Amino acid sequence: METIINPVVKVDAAFVYIIGFSLFLLFAITATMVWFVFRYSRKRHPRAADIRGDWRLELVWTLVPTLIAMSMFWVGWSSYAGLRNVPDNALTIETVAMMYSWIFIYPNEKETEDELVVPLGKPVRLEVTSDDVIHGLFIPAFRIKVDAVPGVHTYAWFLPDETGTYFIQCSEFCGVGHADMTAVLRVVTEAEYLAWLETEAADE
Ligand code: CUA
Repeated sequence: METIINPVVKVDAAFVYIIGFSLFLLFAITATMVWFVFRYSRKRHPRAADIRGDWRLELVWTLVPTLIAMSMFWVGWSSYAGLRNVPDNALTIETVAMMYSWIFIYPNEKETEDELVVPLGKPVRLEVTSDDVIHGLFIPAFRIKVDAVPGVHTYAWFLPDETGTYFIQCSEFCGVGHADMTAVLRVVTEAEYLAWLETEAADE
């Protein structure tokens, strides 16, 4: 079986990398500026040096930022690729947004409203669309945020690697009920999931 890398890990790594680099540059540039203010004040350094046309300097300040930007692009891209490449063995669940609820349809036609139940450890592919206006499927715990657009079918996937209850929220302003357009994601054990799947939707 292929090992699945949880995209949550990659997204977080990209975030930490970019924030870390930004903070480092913020402090390094600020410190250099302050140092220059003293080192090259008119009192200490009355005649400014002319550094125009120094190809070594030009090379350094062109190459270094290019490499930094490219490395940020690379970590961002690989986390994005992780979010978009769904493992082959994923469980597919239809996800339909409508004013103002989320409908989930399972492979056996079971339907739930505002409650998504998935088995632990199995990748889940959500086929996302909308019945009316533009909504947004936002599952922060799994770093998922995709628009649900009428007439368009898109997808998102996640790896439920821990049992528990997670929050789902609509992330596009879709009308007066937008703030209440929430749902619950429950990650349960495989046995619990199978038992749940066979119960009728009547108790929902
Ligand atoms: Cu649906 Cu906001």
